[in-house]
Amino acid sequence: MVRRSKVEVSVVSLPLEELEERVSASGAAAQDGDMPVLTDPDGQFARNYNRRNFLFRHELKDHPLFELPNLIALAKRPAHVEAYWSNGKVEPTDSWGTDRAPRLTLIDTIANIGDNNSLVILKQVAQDPVYGPVLQGFLASVVALSGEQMRQDVVVGETSILISSPNRLTPYHMDDDCNFLMQAVGNKTLFVYDHNDRSLVSHEEREQYHMGNANSIVYQESRKCEATAYELDAGYGVHIPVFAPHWVRNHDNISVALSVNYQLRPMLAEKRIYRVNSLLRKLGAAPTPPGFSPSRNRWKIAAANGLYAAYHLLRRKRARPLWTPRPESQGHGKRAGRSRDEVSRG
Ligand SMILES: [Fe+2]
Repeated sequence: MVRRSKVEVSVVSLPLEELEERVSASGAAAQDGDMPVLTDPDGQFARNYNRRNFLFRHELKDHPLFELPNLIALAKRPAHVEAYWSNGKVEPTDSWGTDRAPRLTLIDTIANIGDNNSLVILKQVAQDPVYGPVLQGFLASVVALSGEQMRQDVVVGETSILISSPNRLTPYHMDDDCNFLMQAVGNKTLFVYDHNDRSLVSHEEREQYHMGNANSIVYQESRKCEATAYELDAGYGVHIPVFAPHWVRNHDNISVALSVNYQLRPMLAEKRIYRVNSLLRKLGAAPTPPGFSPSRNRWKIAAANGLYAAYHLLRRKRARPLWTPRPESQGHGKRAGRSRDEVSRG
């Protein structure tokens, strides 16, 4: 149901125990096979995983987890990763992180999302004790449907919940993870571009992204017609391959979507090559992009691994639980105690 009016934060949440009961029941059912979280009768996941964008069905439409009161309760619980939110109108050409309106608190932004033209991303919610059972089921289902290649590629899986205002835009950008975006509440138009088109994303722009510039690509209105435009209703999802540029125009309703995304082993290797390339470029060289010379790729990865190890000896991060895929024989993924540093070493 679409809610446009302001939500009183203190009065609308389901009691935590009741929500936990409903969610754990659906999570258990999912694991028992009673509640199919994803189906793929056409074999699209295995055929198209990280090769091309595609539309698919899912079972999350209007699930209680995606009701505003429960999202507010989620936002109030301790999180491993800080939430992102942006307030005020943006255009496709705007930089990621643009705030055109006075900054609101996270809770105020979600509670009044119907009126404040904002975007909220609650990150790594599969580690939440209430949301975890269902979301980890989705993380495992996507890998199971996509098959052995994806299981070998995945280093870590993560989920985020995106909450956006009526008619809100998400600016043109790309991500270094492999995404399965599932619309749970409301609808929107999602524009996805070809991730292999080097005239859209050059090697230099990809290198800049890996060096920390999230706005390394620029929206070109003249190329809008080249995007695949998905009319994304609740109950549908779209697969966005790594580094496929995309942007979103929400329709006239509150939108809640689940982003099920994965960091892939080949992308971590590529990231290290691009970082070495950036260093070489600063020294005046014209480095070869990844994929052109296996021997050069190998020494760049070795060099980057050495720098990486030295850096992390100096700056150790606190470990936090992450989802990693289990071997096929064990069926489901797991909540692991390994840190991001450990998994990225692969
Ligand atoms: Fe994105």
